[in-house]
Formats: sequence, C-alpha cells, structure tokens
Amino acid sequence: MPKDITILAIESSCDETAAAVVRNGREVLSNVISSQIALHTLYGGVVPEIASRKHTEKITPVVSEALRTAGVSADDLDAVAVTYGPGLVGALLVGVSFAKAFAFAKGLPLVGVHHIEGHVAANYIQYPELEPPFACLVVSGGHTHLVETVDYGVFNIIGKTVDDAAGEAFDKVARAIGLGYPGGPKIDRKAREGDPDAILFPKAHVEGSPYDFSFSGLKSAVLNYLNHAKMAGQEVNDADLAASFQKAVVDVLTERAMEFVREKGYQKLAAAGGVASNSALRASLQAACSAENVEFYVPAPILCTDNAAMIGCAGYYEYLKGVRSDLSLNAVPNLKLGER
Ligand code: KG4
Ligand code: ZN
Repeated sequence: MPKDITILAIESSCDETAAAVVRNGREVLSNVISSQIALHTLYGGVVPEIASRKHTEKITPVVSEALRTAGVSADDLDAVAVTYGPGLVGALLVGVSFAKAFAFAKGLPLVGVHHIEGHVAANYIQYPELEPPFACLVVSGGHTHLVETVDYGVFNIIGKTVDDAAGEAFDKVARAIGLGYPGGPKIDRKAREGDPDAILFPKAHVEGSPYDFSFSGLKSAVLNYLNHAKMAGQEVNDADLAASFQKAVVDVLTERAMEFVREKGYQKLAAAGGVASNSALRASLQAACSAENVEFYVPAPILCTDNAAMIGCAGYYEYLKGVRSDLSLNAVPNLKLGER
C-alpha cells in the first residue's frame, strides 16, 4: 500500500480566500471558503485592491480552519499546493506568499497550480472513477475554453472565447438589467420565471474557427434591446430577457461542445468553472450527452465555484509528476493553460 499523500491547498486568485486539505488527490478532508462577494456587491464587481486586503486578513484563519476541520497538523502534510495564476495579481500574491512562507517554515515541498487546471480537477473529486482523456468545457468568469484533457494537467486547447468569457457576459448583462453582482446566479434564478424563447438573440460563430466563442455581440444585442425598449417607452420583462440571453449562451456552449465530442468520438464530456453551476447549462449538456450516449460529468456547484479542494487535487497530480516550485514562485496574472 503506497503512503498517503496529504496536501494543504490554497486559492486566492479572485474574491474567495480558500484553503483545503486533500488526501491522495480526491479525498477532501476539509474545504474552507471565505467569500468576499457581499463586500464587492456594494461596488457592482470585484475591486482588486479590496480583494487583496481581504485575502490578507482572511488567509491565516482560513488555513487554520482547514487544518483544524481536517483534523491534521502541519506535521501530517506532504506538500503545499497554491494557485499562482491566472487571476488578480494582488489577490494571487497573498496566497502565493502565504504558501511559500508556510512551506519554508515547515520544510514542505511547494507546488504551484494553474487555476483552470484546478477547475477541471474538481471533476476528479466529484467522480472518483473519472480519468483522462475526456473533453472538457471550462466556463468561468475569466475563461471559456473547450479543451481535451489528454492527461492529468495536460491540455489541448480546441477553442476559446475571442472576447468576453461566458461568466463575464452573465455579469455584464445582469448589471444592465439591474440584477446586480454576481450576475450568473442572479440571471440563473431570474430566468426560471421567464420564457427562453421570448427574444431571439444572436449566436455568434467565429469565422474560420469552429470551436471558438464570441459573447460580446450577444451582450451588445441585449444592451440594444434594452435601449430600444427604453426609447419606445416599452416595459421590459426582465425574466424573459434573462431567460432568452441565458438560452443563447447555453445553446452555443452546448452546440460547440457536442460538435467537438462528436468529431473526435469522445465518450466523456466534463464541464468546469463557475458558470458550470448554471442550472440551464447543466440540464442542456446532460440532455445532449444522454441523447448521444456520452457520459456527462459536472462537479457540485460548491466545487464549480472557486475553492481550494480543486487546487489540492490538481496539485496532487503535479506532485506525483515531480513538479516542485521553489521560493522564487511568483503570481502570474495571465498564466496560459498548459504553461508553467
Ligand atoms: O470559476 P469562478 O468562480 O471564478 C473564476 O475563475 O472566474 O467563476 C465565476 C463566474 C462569475 O462570472 C459568475 O457570474 C459565474 O461564474 N457564475 C454563474 C453561475 N454561478 C456563477 N454563471 C451562470 N450561472 C450560474 N449559476
Ligand atoms: Zn475560477
């Protein structure tokens, strides 16, 4: 029986200060998330300066709680994993600095983890039997990627957004309708009362790139619709608008992912990232996969949102490969998927 590998993981790339203890990659002993959403709601979006200050305040208590609830001490740990990009530089730096100091003080190896690799890895926690290769749709506030997960932490990028990320589109449209921040969950909820076929919004194709996405035209179409209604003195049905916008996003994501799965003959499709919490997207991908005998994987919403358990999982597979970061590890705000 090989020795258990217990990893303390830290995530602070945006507005969640998170720490987790993960054993052997997929067993989550603790998963502590301190969300700053309420604070940023006051400003209608994440204020980077406030985010890093809040991370500084929360990082020590959050890590302590993760160790305490996992029932482990620093002596039981085998490594420290930390998100070092992409994300907000001032936010990332708090987690990276803390992880370096902790690893150095306790004499533990340090493993820098890519945030999106973490999102994909959330699927391994949810589905203990899932192994690469599989196709994966990564949809978060900053990313919209269709990838082949060739191996643990090894990705082949098939398509991505050429402008706004899916989550960004949700957030911007929610702000325009007056639903506030964060937009995704609010549109999801509002859309349940509306008719998704009430308004026909464009589903953009990117010329010459069948698997790329573009959401800025859709966002403009929603803004135009609102402006026209205002000029004409017409009342806007927010629920219909939310439902129709959401359908346009969900349809494009589903169509492209399924086209790719079909073309490559993939039997498994996973979804990952904050937008993978969206109830309409989950239902649409599930229905499309069922219709084509493809196995669909999606983490529980708590694992879709930013968390450290997913970083602990991704970090474990990097650790097994022998990846080690030294104390020169720095935050890389625009770190590309597959780069180190
Ligand atoms: O992965 P995540 O927590 O952070 C990033 O890495 O960006 O994703 C956050 C994004 C936000 O844009 C948020 O509005 C969106 O995910 N989101 C949703 C839902 N829950 C979160 N979008 C649509 N429907 C949801 N239920
Ligand atoms: Zn994220």
